Amino acid sequence: MRVAVVGKGGAGKSVIAGTLARLLARRGRRVLALDSDLMPGLAYSLGADPPAMPPLLDAAEKGEDGRWRLKKGIGPVRAVRRYATPAPDGVLLLQLGKPAADGLPPIMGSLNAFYKVVHRIRGADAFRDWDIVADLPAGPRQTAFDWAPYADVFLVVVEPMWKSALTARRVARIARAQGRAMVLPVANKVTGGADSQRVEEMLGEPLFASLPADEAVAEADRLGVPLIDRAPSSPAARAIEAMLEALGREQTPAR
Ligand SMILES: Nc1ncnc2c1ncn2[C@@H]1O[C@H](COP(=O)(O)OP(=O)(O)OP(=O)(O)O)[C@@H](O)[C@H]1O
Ligand SMILES: [Mg+2]
Repeated sequence: MRVAVVGKGGAGKSVIAGTLARLLARRGRRVLALDSDLMPGLAYSLGADPPAMPPLLDAAEKGEDGRWRLKKGIGPVRAVRRYATPAPDGVLLLQLGKPAADGLPPIMGSLNAFYKVVHRIRGADAFRDWDIVADLPAGPRQTAFDWAPYADVFLVVVEPMWKSALTARRVARIARAQGRAMVLPVANKVTGGADSQRVEEMLGEPLFASLPADEAVAEADRLGVPLIDRAPSSPAARAIEAMLEALGREQTPAR
């Protein structure tokens, strides 16, 4: 399973991605979690440490042509082995990391390295039987610039609100135009059947899953602990688990 979670800011991407990754790992899968958000959130929803510095800073160098490249000997496998952060249940988390006060220029190398690593995952034999769960930053940019070329599935997270639906529609359109992955809309923070129906109307297509608004999610967030540790039987956690089952069924015929 290779899933990229996308959608508007605050829709619930990180909670969903983190919970999916942990659930897969508990089923005995080897899981690589990817966070390419410069405002990282996946570490918290997984229960891992955010890095002090962008971990891949060390993996990149500038060639004589002025272009960034991965240092000699560093491919996706070594990058994950060296620079990923361990998370509970055996998940490995590769993070882009966040810029310091002096902005993007000092971390351009790590941005480039991360992009190069994710583009080489598909070709890496060592990852063939790994599951990948990626938490992409808010909005359509990274989808448009092909930051998740490994993905078989885009989960487009949408809140029952117009602006959220507009972003979801845009991201879904871009991902579908690339033609490589299934694109599945998922409503989050839903308070009833009418909410789901409204989201379907706004999107103009049926939902793949509807996840309930759940105080347990907010509480886990306040405490800074993963939902799956704080409230594994909460309605939201169960709904994410049910969505994982459905994803498995969806993917079986294609494999
Ligand atoms: N099902 C839910 N019920 C209640 N609150 C939720 C639910 N899902 C997410 N939230 C809350 O919404 C907020 C945003 O969640 P999260 O950080 O996962 O979203 P995000 O899409 O990753 O945001 P960002 O775009 O900032 O990365 C958090 O405060 C979280 O606790
Ligand atoms: Mg997030």
